Amino acid sequence: MKAQVFVIFGASGDLAKRKLIPAIYELHREQLLPEHFALLGVSRTEFSDEAFRKEAFAENEFIKGEKDPAFAEKLFYEPIDTLQPEGYEKVKSRLAELDGAQQTDGNYLFYLSTPPSLYTKIPAFLAKVGLNKTGEGQVRRLIIEKPFGYDLESAVELNRSLQQYFPEEAIYRIDHYLGKETVQNLLVTRFANGIFEPLWNRNYIHHIEVTSAEHIGVGSRGGYYDSSGALRDMVQNHLLQIVAHIAMEPPINADAESIRGEKLKLFKSLRPIQRSEVAQYAVRGQYLEAKVRGEELKGYREEEGVPEGSMTETYAALKFYIDNWRWAGVPFYIRTGKRLPTKATEVVVYFKSPPHHLFQSHENMMNVNNQLIIRIQPDEGLLLQFGMKVPGAGFVVKNVEMDFHYSDLTDADVPDAYERLILDAMKGDATLYSRGDSVEEAWRFVDPILKAWKEDKNIKLFGYPAGTWGPEVADALIEGERVSWRNPC
Ligand code: BG6
Repeated sequence: MKAQVFVIFGASGDLAKRKLIPAIYELHREQLLPEHFALLGVSRTEFSDEAFRKEAFAENEFIKGEKDPAFAEKLFYEPIDTLQPEGYEKVKSRLAELDGAQQTDGNYLFYLSTPPSLYTKIPAFLAKVGLNKTGEGQVRRLIIEKPFGYDLESAVELNRSLQQYFPEEAIYRIDHYLGKETVQNLLVTRFANGIFEPLWNRNYIHHIEVTSAEHIGVGSRGGYYDSSGALRDMVQNHLLQIVAHIAMEPPINADAESIRGEKLKLFKSLRPIQRSEVAQYAVRGQYLEAKVRGEELKGYREEEGVPEGSMTETYAALKFYIDNWRWAGVPFYIRTGKRLPTKATEVVVYFKSPPHHLFQSHENMMNVNNQLIIRIQPDEGLLLQFGMKVPGAGFVVKNVEMDFHYSDLTDADVPDAYERLILDAMKGDATLYSRGDSVEEAWRFVDPILKAWKEDKNIKLFGYPAGTWGPEVADALIEGERVSWRNPC
């Protein structure tokens, strides 16, 4: 890996403290950072290097365990007003100084841990002082956090603006779900085994379900969340990325271009939900106050920062189809929500039942009884359900489970998503990052739903009591006799 300076814009903010600096420290501890490395924090707060080292490292409560003082010496800080071009000359000379002292060779990774309104401004200012241009053998990369736009139009505009200053290969768009081990493991489950892939198509699969539930409400993020909603916050990015991993065609190689190329094809095959069909294929909900296990939980509209009468959805469920050879006619159901009964993300693959039923079932089995449940979090693992004979006379069938827990594979903790993603960006591996064209395709799919929810007053926003599985009408999205959502426990 190349020697480099990791530059964090917004270094005095919450994300840097909670996620970025702890992840980089973990890489230091595991000796995964390049030998010549420096971290330059840039923000408006007037810190000296020393004050930054104390705040971001020595007194950072998000860094667990013993703290190696050698890491503090790699941290530097430059206070600037990121909205004024003058500051960027200071950043440039500071970087040149670090290159001299730390031998970082002019390789820089700029992480924009800032409000999205700065995503167009900072790259332009960097370009103005030439910090986007590489000399012979150098790299200059840019990492940005979601949201990548607000709708299709703004996403296209954001891409255009970023690509004006940095080539697409140098732009790393973080979707932290792609950094989760179990999301990556979806590819391994499918493509490293001979037993699943032959069945992974319309001939054997009845339908697929993805649930990402959270028990927390919006907490203190009401202001941000109200301008977003569940569809933008979770579906456009995290859930559609999971769908891409489950449904894409096998890539030729496990490299960035092959995997991201297949994902793009998949997003292009999503059958658009027309505005006139939104009420039929999508359900939106908002949590209401309720008493859950003795605790009074506020309704969404009572949360701090949420405007009275807000119509923002805290729950979204969709049914859709993928129009390609593999998935023709197979419904996909996805849902996500805040203030649901538990925190869990899982994928359920429901296989078709055998064509002819020979045996009586012991229990009230659904007509699709073979399920593969892929638990993304928590208790990461795989659960396979199938029918077995109940001992005794006759042929009575009972549903049983084969359960694999990731924790049985290794004693080591599953690494944090940011750790993996930051390391990949430092190495120049974009496999687990979203490419601009895919982001636009994902927006193209959700855009008509967003517009219909905003403009069509006849589409209901259903209330659901906090601590429940969302609006009951979402059950009606799922077709088929005795088939319903699987609620993770
Ligand atoms: C973020 C959303 O991207 O993902 C949050 O903005 C959500 O609203 C979070 O809570 C969920 O991530 P995880 O990793 O906790 O499932």
